[in-house]
Amino acid sequence: MDTIIEKIQETHPDEEVVSRAGSILRAGGLVAIPTETVYGLAADALDEEAATRIYAAKGRPSDNPLIVHITKMEDLEVIAAEIPDIARQLAEKFWPGPLTMIFRKTDRVPYGTTGGLDTVAVRMPSNKISRAVIESGGGFLAAPSANTSGRPSPTTAAHVIEDLNGKIEMIVDGGATGIGLESTIVDVTAPVPVILRPGYVTKAMIEEVTQEVVMDSVTDGNDKDERPKAPGMKYKHYAPRAEIILVDGQMEEVIRKINQFVENAQAEGKRAGIIATQESRDSYPHEWVRCIGTRADEETIAHNLFQVLRSFDQDQVDVIYSEVFFQEGIGHAIMNRLCKAAGNHVIHV
Ligand code: TXA
Ligand code: MG
Repeated sequence: MDTIIEKIQETHPDEEVVSRAGSILRAGGLVAIPTETVYGLAADALDEEAATRIYAAKGRPSDNPLIVHITKMEDLEVIAAEIPDIARQLAEKFWPGPLTMIFRKTDRVPYGTTGGLDTVAVRMPSNKISRAVIESGGGFLAAPSANTSGRPSPTTAAHVIEDLNGKIEMIVDGGATGIGLESTIVDVTAPVPVILRPGYVTKAMIEEVTQEVVMDSVTDGNDKDERPKAPGMKYKHYAPRAEIILVDGQMEEVIRKINQFVENAQAEGKRAGIIATQESRDSYPHEWVRCIGTRADEETIAHNLFQVLRSFDQDQVDVIYSEVFFQEGIGHAIMNRLCKAAGNHVIHV
C-alpha cells in the first residue's frame, strides 16, 4: 500500500491532517504518530480487528499487549474496571505525560488489544499532535512503539519510514520526539504499585506521590528465570543489526579497553563502532564513533540513544562497543534499554 506521509507542527497541528488521520483510524486503519516519548503506531483500541492489524505490521508476537492512549480522565472510566486512589494521585501528578498505568480492564477493551490479558495499559500523552489525533480517532488509540518488532523504537518519522513504509496507511511527521525513551510502566492493580518498565518518570519521582513502590525484579534483570510481568520485556529489543557489547569499569580503563577491542576487531576484518559521550569521544581515534550526549545531562543521552543505535545500521558495523551509565534517575531507563539491546552482554574491566 502507499503510505501517506504528512509533516505537521506541534505548535499548530494542521486540522486537515489531523482529521484525515482520524478518519483513517475510525475506519480501522493504522497511523504512526509522534508522542513525547517515541513514535507510536496507532489503531482504534476498541476495534479488535484494527488493533490486531498492528501486530501484523510490526511483526509483533500477539501475546504482547498494547498501551491504550487517551486524552481525558473520563475516558479512563470506560476502559479501567477499577481506578485505585493511588492511580488517581499518579495521574494527577504525571498525566498528561510519559507514565503508563496497568488497570483491570472493562469489557469495552477487546482481548486483541490486551494480548489476552484481563488488564489494560493506559497512558495519557502530552504531545499536542498525539492528543489531537487521539481525539479525532475516537478517543482510544492502541499504540505500541512504531518500529518493526525487536528494533530500536523510532524517535523520528524517518525511523518509522525505515520500518513501516508501505505497511500502514499514514505517518504523521511531527519532528524528533523530546524524551526519546518509552514511558515508565507502573502496575497499579497490586496493593503496592510495581514499576514494570523504567522510564523518564523515575522511581524517586513516583515516591514523591506514594512512599511504597517497588521495581519488578525481572524487569530489572535480577531474576532471570521468571516471566516478566510486562510481556514485552521478555523479547529481544531495541537492537540494531550489529552485536552490542557494554564495557563497564573505571572510565580510563574502559576507554583503553574499548580502543583495544576495536583494534582487535579490525584486525579480524570487522567494522567496529563505539558509543561514546561528549566527555570521551576524543579519546577514541577510530572511524565509527558516535557521541550519544553528555554525562553532565543524561536527558541528552536518553534523547539520542535509539537514533544512535539505528545509525550504526547505515554504517554496517559488525560490532558496537558502548560505555555504560549510572543506574540513577533517567540513567536507570537508559541502562535498561542498552542492556536489552546488548542481550545483557557486559564486560567488566
Ligand atoms: O512511551 C510509550 O509507552 C510508547 C508510546 C508510543 O506511547 N509506547 C510503547 O509501547 O512503548 P510498546 O508496545 O512498545 O510497549 C508496551 C509495553 C510492552 O512491554 C507490553 O508488554 C507492556 O507495555 N504492557 C502493555 N499492556 C500490558 C499489561 N496489561 N500488563 C503488563 N504489561 C503490559
Ligand atoms: Mg516497543
